[in-house]
Amino acid sequence: MVSIAVNKGRDNVAMLGIGAYRPQRIVSNAEVCEVLDSTPDWIFERTGIHNRRWISGEETIRSIAAAAGERALNNTPVDRAKIGAVLLCTSSWLKLTPHGAPSVAFDLGLNGVAAFDLTSGCGGFGYGLGVAADLIRAGSAEYVLVIGAETMTVGLDPTDRGTAMIFGDGAGAVVVGPTEENGISPTVWGSDGENAEAIAQDVDFLEYMNKAQAMQGTDPAVEPVGRMSLHMEGPKVFRWAAVTLPRALSAALDASGVAKEDIEVFIPHQANARINELMKKNLGLAEGIPMANDIENTGNTSAASIPLAMEEMLVTGKAKGGQLALLLGFGAGLSYAGQVVTLPPAPKEPSF
Ligand code: COA
Repeated sequence: MVSIAVNKGRDNVAMLGIGAYRPQRIVSNAEVCEVLDSTPDWIFERTGIHNRRWISGEETIRSIAAAAGERALNNTPVDRAKIGAVLLCTSSWLKLTPHGAPSVAFDLGLNGVAAFDLTSGCGGFGYGLGVAADLIRAGSAEYVLVIGAETMTVGLDPTDRGTAMIFGDGAGAVVVGPTEENGISPTVWGSDGENAEAIAQDVDFLEYMNKAQAMQGTDPAVEPVGRMSLHMEGPKVFRWAAVTLPRALSAALDASGVAKEDIEVFIPHQANARINELMKKNLGLAEGIPMANDIENTGNTSAASIPLAMEEMLVTGKAKGGQLALLLGFGAGLSYAGQVVTLPPAPKEPSF
């Protein structure tokens, strides 16, 4: 009987460096309300957002993903030639073919490595971090660059009261690699496809193309084709979050073997500051521990929000490298993924 070789990697892995990119253009609530039927105060009270960043000029999903990746590599004491895989967590790449990671890897001087995209909505970074840790543990790569990058505003209807004030653009990245002490717990993750349509594009590609084609003809019954955009049943997602996420957080703590009293930093996905305050309170995390609130000036950047928020905390000194942090991403799918981690060192090259 022929036996086939098995990989064996390293059990202990951690985030070794972090980098982020925040688009130049800052968009205030007042600017959003120039076209949206809302008020700056309503937006801040219900979401915790004052400002968000939108891409402008030469900025694209590809350029911001590469900029965050470049900083993460520069902020990590590992030769970039050792990166064995690039994982791009995004729901904003504009083509299904080719997917984004190979082009971004090329931009980073990493042409030739394994490179693939991971789409899991706002839970994308949590999924990506888990996959990266497992790739290293399995021996499929020694070091992995995980990038969360989104240009949510490309598919945003600026008049939609459920989304226009929430989403923003940005990118964050971490280098994951082997370490002496383990710094990434098992991933706790899941999904709820029964409620998947609660966060969804209004039409799929085929419907969009069919409409566009019909418009070229003479069918007066066909509605004019607009932009393909994202819609969210906010209250429904809020209720799902209230039930599902506390369980996910408890499961992540159990899987990590770390007591909740030992958690020093809480970095949930930046979907809504009210959801995050509720989660922190219900989980019984120590009241004084710092919690990410990058949403206030960055908005909800989907798969980029956790690395952006982590970077902000490290740059401003709200959190320190080596501290124990609880991460939880959640959103479209509806899906979630979380871990207990040790934080990477503060970046030498920050994003602001
Ligand atoms: N501006 C002003 N008023 C608005 C508004 C807006 N953009 N959107 C809704 N309203 C109004 C409604 O008409 C309603 O008015 P009424 O009480 O007179 O009927 C009231 O505000 C409450 O509407 P509701 O839809 O229940 O708002 P909300 O408090 O649930 O806030 C979200 C909306 C989207 C901010 C909130 O539901 C949310 O953040 N949900 C979860 C999002 C999330 O976790 N996503 C996952 C990751 S992407």
